[in-house]
Amino acid sequence: MLLRVLGSSAGGGFPQWNCNCPQCDGLRRGRIRAQARTQSSIALSCNGQDWLLVNASPDILAQIRATPALQPARSARDSGIAAVLLMDAQIDHVTGLLMLRERSTPLPLLATPEVLSDIGSGFPLTSILSHYCGVASQAIACDARPFQIDALPGLTLQTLALDSKPPPYSPWRNAPRQGDNIGLLVHSSATGERLFYAPGLAEVTPALHDVMAGCAVVLVDGTFWRADEMQRLGLSTKSAADMGHLPQSGAGGMLEHLARLPAGVRKVLIHINNTNPILDEDSPERAQLAAHGIEVAYDGMEIRW
Ligand code: MLT
Ligand code: MN
Ligand code: ZN
Repeated sequence: MLLRVLGSSAGGGFPQWNCNCPQCDGLRRGRIRAQARTQSSIALSCNGQDWLLVNASPDILAQIRATPALQPARSARDSGIAAVLLMDAQIDHVTGLLMLRERSTPLPLLATPEVLSDIGSGFPLTSILSHYCGVASQAIACDARPFQIDALPGLTLQTLALDSKPPPYSPWRNAPRQGDNIGLLVHSSATGERLFYAPGLAEVTPALHDVMAGCAVVLVDGTFWRADEMQRLGLSTKSAADMGHLPQSGAGGMLEHLARLPAGVRKVLIHINNTNPILDEDSPERAQLAAHGIEVAYDGMEIRW
């Protein structure tokens, strides 16, 4: 199985258009060693030609341009993107759907009923797209049952409900439902191994820990280093928990959870907010990750398992 990271940043990207935090300002002025990153998306393929786009980022057009494998050019109008699956209804994960409107057939779109309801009403993307290519929605249950996608034979997936938050525009923002956020398990038919992907994750429950411990690769929420990162920088009144993200540092943080996984599990952080000091490749926080064998995803990163 092949996974390509199209966008490794959280909402806003890195550097963020209006942000002068130490990372954004440092990158613009060349003061820190860091790589720019686009907003959160990955693509999965069994054959390198047909891809499942997981999340449709606001940066999707730039991401497609940067990824020739997504453009196999088999006919006059063609794309390697065979279907889209959404992890949640957050703006950084769904806005790019509008950019796929030039398709000549309805876009195969997989998401939970909760996500489909948010992008059908609060941010009515599916009704807008009905005036363009249209959407062939397929509701997925987050019941961990293995399933396949018609357009992508060979890909076997499982989805799990995760503790996190629906988007600020959702009527359910303060009353999260099962299905607002999911984690994805991707099977490799060649090796029998699984990869776990969860860009938004507020809690690692014992059951989720066991799932992660059984994977070859975990690619998980790297949004914030600290629980009060945005507040300390004076950029927001919201904590990581308010936004549905588990920070890396501190008691019960992501680093502690990752350290308890078996040594053979490859550990990668993704959906990294521009305020997170791990983006600075010379930061002590980045050194701490390296010491724990934890990688930081970057745009263009490829993972095979
Ligand atoms: C999040 O992951 O918390 C959201 O993408 C934040 C946002 O939409 O700005
Ligand atoms: Mn996000
Ligand atoms: Zn910033």
